[in-house]
Amino acid sequence: MADAKIYTASTTAPVNIAVIKYWGKRDTKLNLPTNSSLSVTLSQDDLRTHTTAACSSQFSADSLILNGEPQDVSGARQQACFRELRSLRAALEAADPSLPKLSTLPLKIVSENNFPTAAGLASSAAGFAALVRAIADLYQLPQSPTELSRIARQGSGSACRSLFGGYVSWEQGEAANGSDSLALEVAPASHWPQMRAAILVVSAAKKGVSSTSGMQATVATSALFPHRANVVVPERMVQMKQAIRDRDFETFADLTMRDSNQFHAVCLDTSPPIFYMNDVSRAAIRVVEEINRLAGKRVAAYTFDAGPNAVVYYLDENEDLVLGSLKGGLKGVPGWRASVTAEGVQGLDQGLLE
Ligand code: DP6
Repeated sequence: MADAKIYTASTTAPVNIAVIKYWGKRDTKLNLPTNSSLSVTLSQDDLRTHTTAACSSQFSADSLILNGEPQDVSGARQQACFRELRSLRAALEAADPSLPKLSTLPLKIVSENNFPTAAGLASSAAGFAALVRAIADLYQLPQSPTELSRIARQGSGSACRSLFGGYVSWEQGEAANGSDSLALEVAPASHWPQMRAAILVVSAAKKGVSSTSGMQATVATSALFPHRANVVVPERMVQMKQAIRDRDFETFADLTMRDSNQFHAVCLDTSPPIFYMNDVSRAAIRVVEEINRLAGKRVAAYTFDAGPNAVVYYLDENEDLVLGSLKGGLKGVPGWRASVTAEGVQGLDQGLLE
């Protein structure tokens, strides 16, 4: 009789917010980027996806439930992750015939975010990272986080960086098959435990132009874009890694804000133009620039992804100054506080900035 056992494994993956942005693919099928990128992983106490992967001959087909809603698994991204993980498991089974043949069984994935989905935060990164990690655990794969990042990348580019905590680079690589386009740890969170991130939820609405289609339009139409991808970002990657190694917040903040602004500049240079920031986003920029001007040095750094919500990085010692000024300058905007350290803030600290 066939084995009807249900095999399961559960895991969590964190959200990451890029300080040097990924924007542009050189290969849309394999999700290979036009430039390297670098992110800070937020604490899993605050923002994370929890995923359980199960497989059994009792299941009729592969399925995925996200926050209680069934999702389509026939898309190329999910299929690529399932296919690659199954083939790694099949190799283990071929080497050791005593192992159960999990690679041939239908998969059932159940995923939940611990932060309000309405917050419109980067959930695809944590989602695909958790999906890949959960299936890898289910299959008891020996592959390292960097090797798994190559698979998560095919789900969503930014997901490859959520296989690690702390400070993570995604090296663009050169190989046509994507074998060297993967995530590396620049430094663990414990290297710079004073780092904090405040998330200002300017709008909970779904973004108008998805990252995937927005970046393709930029690559196809922006005249500024080749300069960013080929000249500016390679220099900034080197400088940002050094700033993190040196725990040099002023340089970290300068590069973070410049890179966010340049990313939104190439969006504006796209035809038709893409606007992700709104008036409240620009007000947040002005408040942070003013905080830094009054402090006489950079004590806060804003960054915006493909939407209007701000993430503001600062050091613990400046928390009262930065959060107090943001509250004063942005009355009525919801704020979440997260931390990049495991031992930092407990739980999600949410409230209106008022
Ligand atoms: C602005 O990783 O969501 O957040 O690879 O098409 O899934 P796909 O795109 P995605 O793009 C993220 C873009 C960004 C910058 C970043 O996270 O580096």
